[in-house]
This record gives sequence, structure tokens and C-alpha cells, in this order.
Amino acid sequence: MTDSAAGKKAHFNVFLRGAGHHSAAWKHPDSNPGEDLDLEYYANIARIAERGLFDSLFTADNYSGLGRRLEPFTLLSALAALTKHVGLIATVSTTYNDPYHVARKFASLDHISKGRAAWNIVTGHSQADAGNFNKPEHPEVSKRYEIGDEFVEITKQLWDSWEEDALVYDRVNEITIDASKVYEINFQGNYHSVRGPLNIPRPPQGYPVLVQAGSSESGKELAAKTAEVIFTAQQTLEAAQEFYLDVKSRLGKYGRKQDQLLIMPGLSPIVADTEAEARDIEDEFNALLNPKQALRRLSSYFTVDLTEYSLDSLVPVDKAKPYGAITSGITSRHEVVVDAARRDKMTLRQFIARSAAGHGHVSFTGSVVQTADFIEKWIRGNGADGFNILPHIYYQGLETFVDKVVPELQNRGLFRTAYEGATLRENLGLARPANKNKEIWKLAREADRLKTGSGS
Ligand SMILES: Cc1cc2nc3c(=O)[nH]c(=O)nc-3n(C[C@H](O)[C@H](O)[C@H](O)COP(=O)(O)O)c2cc1C
Repeated sequence: MTDSAAGKKAHFNVFLRGAGHHSAAWKHPDSNPGEDLDLEYYANIARIAERGLFDSLFTADNYSGLGRRLEPFTLLSALAALTKHVGLIATVSTTYNDPYHVARKFASLDHISKGRAAWNIVTGHSQADAGNFNKPEHPEVSKRYEIGDEFVEITKQLWDSWEEDALVYDRVNEITIDASKVYEINFQGNYHSVRGPLNIPRPPQGYPVLVQAGSSESGKELAAKTAEVIFTAQQTLEAAQEFYLDVKSRLGKYGRKQDQLLIMPGLSPIVADTEAEARDIEDEFNALLNPKQALRRLSSYFTVDLTEYSLDSLVPVDKAKPYGAITSGITSRHEVVVDAARRDKMTLRQFIARSAAGHGHVSFTGSVVQTADFIEKWIRGNGADGFNILPHIYYQGLETFVDKVVPELQNRGLFRTAYEGATLRENLGLARPANKNKEIWKLAREADRLKTGSGS
């Protein structure tokens, strides 16, 4: 264990999802399946997360299908008014949006939440999204990341299009905005051209915390260049350590330090006072699964139609497409899921049970102490800087974690006992980014001054 690992504290995000992350959560009598379009339902989850001193909550998104998804900015703006501390992470795709709109919405969310906004930058993995945006097809993965890379650069420049002290409200001279401190960015890209400036001042956090959730080669590269938090699906500590080291070692070439990027694998915990009780809960939920439906869901990760196989046959790992052969969808999740099946030689029935709550993220079922041990191992072992928690059911899954696992981690010195700061950046230990354009603009102003011969 390194010294820095010894002093490390965990960070936690809660991943919102309908009645819970277990596929059968909505069928369980303790769940609230009809409430996932209800603001109060999410506010209750957010309050539990704040009680547990969680860094943030996160809402996933896509733009097609039959989901019941509240639009992230709408939901998180409402939650901003109902919470004080928890960070608000909105998923927004760079494939089907415009940078100006996105920069403006995040700046607004950051202002109204007083510095708690974060952006889960995704490129989208659903082919069907294209049909809703006048597009003939969903771009393949490397093209999507190219577009995303440019998109993020534009939004950053837009957030930096106001100097910090541009708003003056000078009543004597009757000046509200010092126009010499607000700039056009005139960005001419391959995919977007944007003049600027943004029509809202620089956000309280400088810019929202940038989160990335792709784990393919291009995903890791974009993350190393841009992201401040990574969500990822890793099944074992060894795989998590390899990913951690890989991504962190890419930071140097972008002039970034290791602590400027936090890696948070997903974790689906089923926790009770004893291991036996936790196993009973897991069995109770798994008994509610519909195997055919579960197989259909896994088939898409697995790239083989698993519904044709008997539940008691071994998972046909050799039929899965080779890694690298997939260029659309969640390419990295394919590897994670196939690896898990190959490693543990499971029957399809066991595979379904194993994947029901984590969907490719690691699941852990155990006592409070065992769960804390698991987390401690991954944090101290540099497999993670924190976890993206996927409760199997709302509210109980999150409540047990908050009321039992969090105090255990606090006793071990592994988790905060109070929020450190007012903004999400401060709680995550991330610096507020300097306005990058400021130096460039200073030079431009100086050049203007010389050109016009103005002395002031
Ligand atoms: C925890 C987590 C959450 C994600 N949420 C979304 C999401 O809400 N919308 C989306 O389009 N993709 C989401 N993704 C997928 C990634 O953003 C990415 O597009 C996908 O993984 C494909 O890229 P990859 O092959 O680099 O992983 C998520 C991935 C992870 C690990």
C-alpha cells in the first residue's frame, strides 16, 4: 500500500434508476415502481444520499426507446432547490446536442445549485437515437468520440467566455456588464462552429465537474484528456487496478496530475447485518426474475442470442464476438460481461442471477463488515477512488448502505464525517479550473489597444 493510498477517503455517487437496479426491483412489494416520474420520489433518494454524505447523484439518459426517463436538466434543477449538498450529475450526449445549448444549461444548473452541477459526457450507445434527430445512422465509436472531444472543448471555451469579474453592477457609471471582459470564441470546428460568448456568466465551479463513462480505448483517452470523474464497470479488483493504472498513467501526457481524475467503478451492494440475511435478500429478488427477459438483456451485451440455450447449460463464451470486433453499443461492457462468464464458468441460470443487479458492474452481497472490507480493499488497493453505488431497490438498498455501511467506513477513517466544502468540486477535492481564455484575451486586448492607439 502506498502512503497516498493509506490516507485515501472514498467518494460515493448514487446512480438513479427506476425502482432500483435489480431487474426485478419493480416487482418487489417494498419498491415504488409507479413513482419514478414523481419529483418527491427522487427528492427522498437525494435526501437519503445527503444523510449519507454522498458526493453526488447521477441520472443516466438516452434519446430513444420505451424508457420512463425524466429529462435530466428538468429533474436536477428541481432537485437543486430541494437539496443543499449533493452534487447533481446530468448525462448529456455530445452526438445529438449543440455545444452552446449544453454549455448554457450546465452554467444555469451550476448557478442555481450554487456549484453542484456535473456533466456525464456520453456519446450515446443506442443506434435508435439517430432516428429521432434527422440522422441516417448513429456514428461509429471513434467518430463519436472525435465529435465529443471537439464538443467539450467548445463548451469549456464558452464557460470561459466571461472573465470572473465581468459583472460589475456599477451604479455610479451605470454599467452592469464590463463588455471588455466578455468575448466571442469564434470556434470553427469540424463538427460545430460557435461564435459565442455564452449568455450567462462563468459558472460558480468555473465549469461543471466533467464525468466520463466510456471504458474503450477512445473512451479512456477522452477521459484522460478531459474527465475529472470516470464511471466504469469492473468485475474484479485486478481488472479495476489495471484500468486505474492505465487511465491514471495517461494523464501525464495531457499535463494533468493523478489526483485530477477520480475513478469510480459501479458497485451493486446487497447488504444486511449478517451474510446469511444478505443472501436471503438476494435470493428473494432473484426469484422474481423472468429468465427469458434476463437472457434477452444479456444477449445484447454478449452479442449472442442466449435465449436459444437451456438455462442449465454453460454460458457459451466461445460464441461471443471477439473483443475489438464491436464498434457500436457499449463496447467495453461486452468485454466485462464475457470476461466474467469465462472466468467463473457459470450456467446461464447462475449468470442471470449474478448480473441481475449490476448489469455488468460488480455486485457484492454480504454483511455490513464484509461490504466495508470490500470497499476498503478496492480503495486502499488503488482499484478505485470511490464507487458509483447501484442500490438493488429504492429506498431500502440505499438506506441500508447509508445507515450501516457509511458509519462503518467512517470508523475506519475511510469516509468523510461532514461535507468538506460547498461545491461538488470542493467535496471531490478537485480544483476550480482557471479561466483558460483569460491570458489569450489579455493579449488580444493589448493588441487592440496598440492598434487603436488607445491609452486606456
Ligand atoms: C456507469 C455508466 C453509466 C453510463 N450511462 C450512460 C448513459 O446514461 N447514456 C449513455 O448513452 N451511455 C451511458 N454509458 C455508456 C458510456 O458513456 C459509453 O457511451 C459507452 O460505454 C460506450 O463507450 P465505451 O465502449 O468507450 O465504453 C454509461 C456507462 C457507464 C459505465
